[in-house]
Parts: sequence; C-alpha cells; structure tokens
Amino acid sequence: MKGKAIVLIGYMGCGKTTVSKILAEKTGRLLLDTDERIEHEQGMSISRIFEEKGEQAFRQMETELLEQLVNTGFDGILSCGGGMPLKEENRRLMKDAGTVVYLKADAEAIATRLKDDESRPLLRGLDYAEKVKKIRDMLASRERSYEAAADQVTDTAGMSSAEVASCILACIHI
Ligand code: S3P
Repeated sequence: MKGKAIVLIGYMGCGKTTVSKILAEKTGRLLLDTDERIEHEQGMSISRIFEEKGEQAFRQMETELLEQLVNTGFDGILSCGGGMPLKEENRRLMKDAGTVVYLKADAEAIATRLKDDESRPLLRGLDYAEKVKKIRDMLASRERSYEAAADQVTDTAGMSSAEVASCILACIHI
C-alpha cells in the first residue's frame, strides 16, 4: 500500500528545502531532509562525503535511507537530494513512501538561486554561465527520471515557495 508521506523531488536549488519547511509547518508533520540526515549520520558534509567516500557510496547511503524510511512507515514531509530519482530502485521506494511531487524549475532560475552556492559538489567552481550550461545538460538527462518518479509535477516558474506549498496541498489528498 502507498504510504502517506509527501515526497519532494527535483533538481538542486528548485526550492525543495524551503517548500518542505512550509509544508511541515502547515500540516504539523515531521520534516526529513535526506541530505541533512546523511550528513548527520556520517558526521560530515555532502562535499566531504563525495571527496572522501565517492559519489557511489553517497548514492548507496541515499538508497539505504529511503529503504529505512519506507520500512518504518515514515509519513511526514520528505525532501530528497536532487539525484535520488535517478535510480529505478529509489523511484519505486519513493512511490511506496507516499505522494511524490516534482518541483520543476528552469536552468536560469536554478543557476540564479545557486549563484553563490559552493555546497553542491556537482556544481562547484563554475561561474554563472557555466552553471546554466551544466544545469541545462543535467536537466536534459534527468528530466525523464524526475517525471517517471513523480505522481504530481508542479511548475515553480513565477511562484513563491508559499504558493508552491499551497498548490501542492490543494492538489493532493493528505
Ligand atoms: C545532488 C543534489 C544535492 C545532494 C548532492 C547531489 C544531485 O541535494 O544530494 O549534492 O545529484 O542532484 P539537493 O538537491 O538537496 O541540493
């Protein structure tokens, strides 16, 4: 049976963290951010995990965390790292956890949000134009996985985080 969590997915900088906080406040549900949980469990930042253990190890940690959440019946708001929907196994687990909402955003909007961000290893050291290009390329290769994982797609263009959260709550039955 499908779980009751609200699972937010989408590319880095699409607003998952802010929207998930608003959703948790509005619904009174527990909030879990997969990046934060993994950082806490490993005692180091995502960047350091990538450097010291490698991306593959990080991806395995993501899958193990999802499995654990599904097995324990997590029913809160789950904000997922941007690479989570790329694995078929993760897409299945997310669907088991609950309603999966893809927050869609375009490359320029994302690059603007992440202009001064150095916390994402996959975009580190790039200037704005390079970021736009890399994000565009990555979105093109990830889009299908995001769409396949999603029960609902919310286009965030021109919307505030509060509006996105209201839109999600209006569209899903919780
Ligand atoms: C990643 C997204 C990040 C984090 C890691 C890899 C990705 O999470 O998990 O840097 O592959 O898109 P956010 O989407 O929360 O930034």
